Amino acid sequence: MTGTVLEPRRPWKGRRVVLGVTGGIAAYKSVQLARNLTRLGAEVDVVLTRSAQEFATPLSFEGVTGRDVFTSLWSVEGAARHIRLGGEADAVVVAPATADFLARAAQGRSDDLLTTTLLATRAPVVVCPAMNDRMWAHPAVQANAARLAELGYQQAGPAAGPLAAGESDGAGRMLEPWQIVEWVGRALGSDPAFRGRTVLITAGPTREALDPVRFLGNRSTGRMGYALAQAAWRRGARVRLVSGPSSLAAPEGVERIQVETAREMLEAVRSQLEEAHVSIFAAAVADYRPREARDRKMKRGGDDAEPTLELTANPDVAADTRGRRAEGSITVGFALETEDLLEHARAKLEAKGFDLLVANPAGEADAGFESETNRVTLLSREGEAEELPLQSKDAVAEAVLDRVAELLPGASDAAGAAQS
Ligand code: CTP
Repeated sequence: MTGTVLEPRRPWKGRRVVLGVTGGIAAYKSVQLARNLTRLGAEVDVVLTRSAQEFATPLSFEGVTGRDVFTSLWSVEGAARHIRLGGEADAVVVAPATADFLARAAQGRSDDLLTTTLLATRAPVVVCPAMNDRMWAHPAVQANAARLAELGYQQAGPAAGPLAAGESDGAGRMLEPWQIVEWVGRALGSDPAFRGRTVLITAGPTREALDPVRFLGNRSTGRMGYALAQAAWRRGARVRLVSGPSSLAAPEGVERIQVETAREMLEAVRSQLEEAHVSIFAAAVADYRPREARDRKMKRGGDDAEPTLELTANPDVAADTRGRRAEGSITVGFALETEDLLEHARAKLEAKGFDLLVANPAGEADAGFESETNRVTLLSREGEAEELPLQSKDAVAEAVLDRVAELLPGASDAAGAAQS
């Protein structure tokens, strides 16, 4: 997602990624892509086709990756370069992928370093098409894209939106660098425990109306739940994110269901629960709402100079799922506490029937609401407490999913089912 922290971390850290760039105007965005992948800890080998060099120079890529950039099949290294690049790659991503590239790759041609490397690799390949929308819609291009899908290449995009020449906004635009980073992460980080499984996540605050312009809310930004959603998608899960109001972009590949109130969140969760192999309750749900939401704006200086607010209890979304959860599914809760963290957290784990509880302190600098980082303790049903160091919410999400993967029954069965 856009807010993601660019620090060396899983699944990119220490992995070899070949970034193939072909000749389209979106090539300028690929410099940013190379930079982001490098900042996440990947070793990025950039391969530019001849026409790509009309749009971006090898020097730009060398500057952001700190590594040699490759342009030619013919070198002192000899013909072995494509074998080495292809063989050492953990993932290959082609961005932008032009219509001409799709045609050559679909035919298995090997007339330049990039296409030859593709034939030489057995790593997952992600292709990010970018072209004029009429070109993309042409049956010849569609047939080539379909052939690449048959060969097992992942296709990321294109998106609809303003194209370079500005004359139309049909599908043809290359995905944004942050989105492609996630596709590469998915190619690198696929996890048999999550592949083919459905993960349901609640995130963000809820808003409870007082009148048409005011509401009761809280400081949650949704960052932790969104990080979990993105990380679960990278592992290969189908992810449904039930989100209260948040300014964050929907995580790549994730189905987001937007709600406002606790009661709407409850409805959305009830409708999705049956299919969930994992449900994670990361939302900061308002425990109370105004007994009555006025249909007109409350005016100052009316009859009631010091109005009192009458509240009524909201449903507990997580607790409501008890007794409705799919058999064998895993349920994860959060607990945000200002005092007696572990004691309260343990009580919540019991009361709401969680398999795993993520406890975090409120009011601490660098942790909890409105922070990019978090310090959490993971509590298991058996009573174990594992204290994790202060780290980015993206890293916390990975740690939580590692624990969920251990709890999920028969991880390999799910992988088999997903492939069949
Ligand atoms: N939760 C929920 N619906 C609510 C309240 C909480 O689904 N109405 C979920 C949260 O998403 C979290 C867990 O229950 O996973 C605990 O939330 P928390 O706000 O820490 O606890 P509460 O049960 O609200 O208790 P309290 O506010 O008294 O600490």
